[in-house]
Amino acid sequence: MSVNKEELFDKVVNLSKRRGFVFQSAEIYGGFRSTYDYGPVGVLLLRNVKEQWWRSMVQFRQDVVGLDAAILSPPSIWEASGHLTNFTDPLVDCRECGSRFRQDKLEDPDKCPTCGAKASFTEARQFNLMFKTNAGPVIDSAAEVYLRPETAQGMFTNFTNVLNTSRKKPPFGIAQIGKSFRNEITPGNFVFRTREFEQMEMEYFVPPADSDKWFEYWCKERMDWYLNLGMKEDSLRLRIHDSDELSHYSRATSDIEFSFPWGWDELEGIANRTDYDLNQHAQASGNKLEYNDSGTGERYVPHVIEPAAGATRTAMAFLMDAYEEEDVNGEVRNVLKLDHRLSPYKVAVLPLSKKDELIEPSKEVLNLLQPHWMCDYDQTQAIGRRYRRQDEIGTPYCVTIDFETLEDKAVTVRERDSMQQDRVPINELVQHLSSYLIP
Ligand code: GAP
Repeated sequence: MSVNKEELFDKVVNLSKRRGFVFQSAEIYGGFRSTYDYGPVGVLLLRNVKEQWWRSMVQFRQDVVGLDAAILSPPSIWEASGHLTNFTDPLVDCRECGSRFRQDKLEDPDKCPTCGAKASFTEARQFNLMFKTNAGPVIDSAAEVYLRPETAQGMFTNFTNVLNTSRKKPPFGIAQIGKSFRNEITPGNFVFRTREFEQMEMEYFVPPADSDKWFEYWCKERMDWYLNLGMKEDSLRLRIHDSDELSHYSRATSDIEFSFPWGWDELEGIANRTDYDLNQHAQASGNKLEYNDSGTGERYVPHVIEPAAGATRTAMAFLMDAYEEEDVNGEVRNVLKLDHRLSPYKVAVLPLSKKDELIEPSKEVLNLLQPHWMCDYDQTQAIGRRYRRQDEIGTPYCVTIDFETLEDKAVTVRERDSMQQDRVPINELVQHLSSYLIP
């Protein structure tokens, strides 16, 4: 049964709350708008998205190293990067009802979506999206600091540190996963656009003459990452930015877009940032930020290709893409057909009944599996309902311990998508599951 696009959004938001993926932040105080907390299964999904990104961008490569830079940063970084001047969105107010909007996101630039008033908007003002705070006990302008609006600048300011300590040479990259903060004018669409979110970014430093080649390479590489993790081909597209859309630092940008219930929207941007950032920071700090090949004597400022993805936004896209409803014997089965690498739990251990004689062997099976995979354990309710609960959070395998287990020392392994059940001896269980659950 295909799920209607209009209903999909509400269904996924509802599932997220009901099954512990995502909660409204500060809910007991009425909720803090546009911030979200990741619950017991949501935190696992998010960790798995980030882990898969890290594996493909760092672990499986010899040319990319990692970094974890500070979130609090001095104004000098953002002056040099251009964010203090350019990181703005056009803000308009409705004179009739006082609502505020991002002008470039209005469907009709002459009509207020809240009260319907026509030609009621003020002139657009440029609104800077950075969050400012104060470091230390003195609240004055000398103590002003910013929460980073992107993880990228930490990679540029540490360029020489990484170059000197990692012995890499262009082409090479620095990758980072972490929180970023933007004072968005119109946050919304659940976790799609929030004021606090997580990014997965990589700055790839290349010889200037090779930048177009590497830009193409990373567009393909990043598209393949989503497809390889099971995202449907027709849910994704690559969109090339027009020249008037380019950020202040970019020579070329392509977005990987996902077909969200409200239409195509960005998951990740791949940009050719040229030598803009390294030059800006070199000029502002007085430190040379360049590559010097001691062998050839060659010296140049590398150009940068940046694949910049949102972890929280991507986790939501995977949820939406995986959500399916099936008719099973006249009943609707909700199932998250997530690639097992993204599934919060890989295995659920389920004793058929709560009787004491099944609990002990079930706990033994759980102890056997836990060192290998994230496992859930559930001994309440009828087994059919427990299977459905696991289907709904995307658990690829359920292992059931029944009364026969006491005799034959075997368990039933049920696979989520086919619902096929196999009897597997306990002493072969890890090997059996390992053949499917590849990291
Ligand atoms: N360093 C480049 C950069 O930050 P960006 O396109 O502004 O580029 C990269 O952000 C990715 O970060 C986006 O494609 C999106 O997935 C995510 N992102 C940006 N703003 C976000 C927000 N307010 N809420 C959630 N995710 C966001």
